[in-house]
Amino acid sequence: MDQVETTEAVRGHYDRIGGQECSRLTHDVAGRVSLEVHRRFLRRFVRPGSRVLEIGAGPGRFTLELAALDCRLVVTDLSAVQLDLNAAQLAGTAAETRVERRELLDVCDTSRYDDHEFDAVVAFGGPLSYTFEQVDDSLRGLLRIVAPDGAVVASVMSLLGTWRHSLPAVIALAQTVGEDANDAVLRTGDLRHVVSEGDGHVCQMFRHADVAAIVDRAGGLLLDSSASNWASLSDAEALATLEADPDRWGRFLDHEIAACAQPGARDGGTHILFAARPTEVGRVRGR
Ligand SMILES: C[S@@+](CC[C@H](N)C(=O)[O-])C[C@H]1O[C@@H](n2cnc3c(N)ncnc32)[C@H](O)[C@@H]1O
Repeated sequence: MDQVETTEAVRGHYDRIGGQECSRLTHDVAGRVSLEVHRRFLRRFVRPGSRVLEIGAGPGRFTLELAALDCRLVVTDLSAVQLDLNAAQLAGTAAETRVERRELLDVCDTSRYDDHEFDAVVAFGGPLSYTFEQVDDSLRGLLRIVAPDGAVVASVMSLLGTWRHSLPAVIALAQTVGEDANDAVLRTGDLRHVVSEGDGHVCQMFRHADVAAIVDRAGGLLLDSSASNWASLSDAEALATLEADPDRWGRFLDHEIAACAQPGARDGGTHILFAARPTEVGRVRGR
């Protein structure tokens, strides 16, 4: 699949699954922890009242978070279905008054925006994981449109954490597609080695070291990074007991979020979050 076919397959996937996306971060305990990890990370790098470009906004879980921070928002997505869902979820709420406009946008092409136009650019839940060979250029484009003291805040799919978390499914898939194809995924993070054309959910997974290298090549400074999740990817029953007790749950979340930020844990979750800012050198090179 070339990039054009891949983008069409991804768009088709998100158009088809539509409203299933609404419960991605609420339907199980790991999702709820992931929401909290992302929420707290976002609040560290997006100042209240900022003007923000949200990329791959989907049904709007983080649109709501950004609106709660009193940000002014340009809300975008590759999928018209997801963008419509976003509008429907916010309709009639105070959050909707924070939305300047919604538009279709492929993260690979942000040329319509001015240099440093936004205080922050947010791309949570993997838009950059769908850019494959264009990931450096895509991130370079995001660093161009963010203010010199602003931040690009994103999360991408994690290769090593997903492998560990989904090991039984990976072993079963390797038996179907062959061990050579499985080796290629573990070497490159590129799911196109095992997902057939038309199936749709192809994506690029990354090691933390890959993320750091991409930020550097794109002319950015890595401000911080984190896994999502760590301990909360284990026994769901044990976690349910904790979650039922607000005091223990609050303590667990604090420990979990601190653990996710440890250098030794950053490859261990299903996603890797990062914040980056354009370097002076990157700004000059981008021109
Ligand atoms: C897993 S959802 C995440 C939605 C939301 N940001 C969240 O974290 O809950 C990924 C979103 O990225 C969008 N997306 C995928 N590829 C994209 C691309 N190339 N450019 C912009 N958005 C993209 C999808 O349509 C989908 O809405």
